[in-house]
Amino acid sequence: MAVIPVDVAGRPYEVRVEAGLLAELVPHCRGLLRKRDVPIVTDANVHAAWGEVVESALRDHGHEPHWRILAAGEQTKSWENLSRTVDWLLSLGVERGDHVLALGGGVIGDLTGFAAAVLKRGCQFIQLPTTLLAQVDSSVGGKTAINTSAGKNLVGAFHQPALVLADLATLDTLPERELLAGYAEVVKYGLIGDADFFAWCEENGSALLSGNARDREYAVAHSVAHKARIVAEDERETTGTRALLNLGHTFGHALEAETGYSADLLHGEAVALGMVLAARFSARAGLMPRSTAERIASHFDAVGMRSELAPLRLGCDGKALAAHMLHDKKMDAGMLPFVLMKGVGKAYLDKSVALDDVAAFLDEELAR
Ligand code: NAD
Ligand code: GLY
Repeated sequence: MAVIPVDVAGRPYEVRVEAGLLAELVPHCRGLLRKRDVPIVTDANVHAAWGEVVESALRDHGHEPHWRILAAGEQTKSWENLSRTVDWLLSLGVERGDHVLALGGGVIGDLTGFAAAVLKRGCQFIQLPTTLLAQVDSSVGGKTAINTSAGKNLVGAFHQPALVLADLATLDTLPERELLAGYAEVVKYGLIGDADFFAWCEENGSALLSGNARDREYAVAHSVAHKARIVAEDERETTGTRALLNLGHTFGHALEAETGYSADLLHGEAVALGMVLAARFSARAGLMPRSTAERIASHFDAVGMRSELAPLRLGCDGKALAAHMLHDKKMDAGMLPFVLMKGVGKAYLDKSVALDDVAAFLDEELAR
């Protein structure tokens, strides 16, 4: 088992990575579940696949599970579900020292984490991430949020979990498309600041995606360790370090907005395309050779992900895509910081990118 400490000031916690953690949930929680009653928030798909395992794991140790099973999908991160989940936790008598379990992908983790952040001004929660994306990214670092009619993740809080148990066995029931989407966030760590890890992905990505257990554990633990270092350095995203995790996200969010945050383009798929676009934009600006950008695109092609805009048939121009970026929550004094690259593993935050230039670049990409 890999155990990765996340050293946030005053509230350090561990991320444990291994296959089979859910079946041994209670011992791995090491005394955090202090009451008989245990609230668990999940979605219908995850409950169908892992509900029994978690139910037995809790009952075998004398706990009484209380389930809140939400619909699967992005629309679950809503005000309505937040308010109902908080009311449900209150009805169970959850106290500030109690731990709520978030069993699922980023949707469940973000919603449950936010509910825990506001319940009695903050109760404890444990992340039990069941998607690759959630294991390597969303369950670690304390960003919690819901969506509103104005956009995604615009209302939320920083609220760190008390523990993260990333059970690699859960990836066995994850649909292949979701696995691939999560893989984009794995590759991101290589592109941000770890050229050796990107090279490792080029060599081992396909095996990892096909189910190689050793590669999965290595990739998840390595990604989490990278994120843990970043979060320990810049928990609230104020110094520019944590902002590097947004590589590909500004372009990606514009694509998600244009496709209506629908199943046409999953978040991780948008991030993969966004990273290719950030790389090509960087090359166009003379920051790195075009061949480096195409090396990145080739890796996504090789594992079966999109690296071109044309197949999305967006029917809009670059200006319309760039306009979505104006609603980005990272806008700062009228400027939008972009994560660009000076090479593989050499991402940096650029606050001087002109949106007109981005629009012209996107027109070129749409015409490719
Ligand atoms: P998700 O939570 O919607 O899960 C994807 C799909 O897989 C869902 O249909 C779900 O029911 C299903 N599923 C999950 N685990 C399964 C399993 N083991 N077996 C079978 N089916 C399973 O999506 P996601 O990609 O995990 O997360 C995306 C969300 O995460 C977005 O809302 C995004 O904004 C958020 N996010 C948050 C952060 C953060 O730092 N908080 C970072 C990245 C993304
Ligand atoms: N997923 C980006 C972050 O946690 O900062």
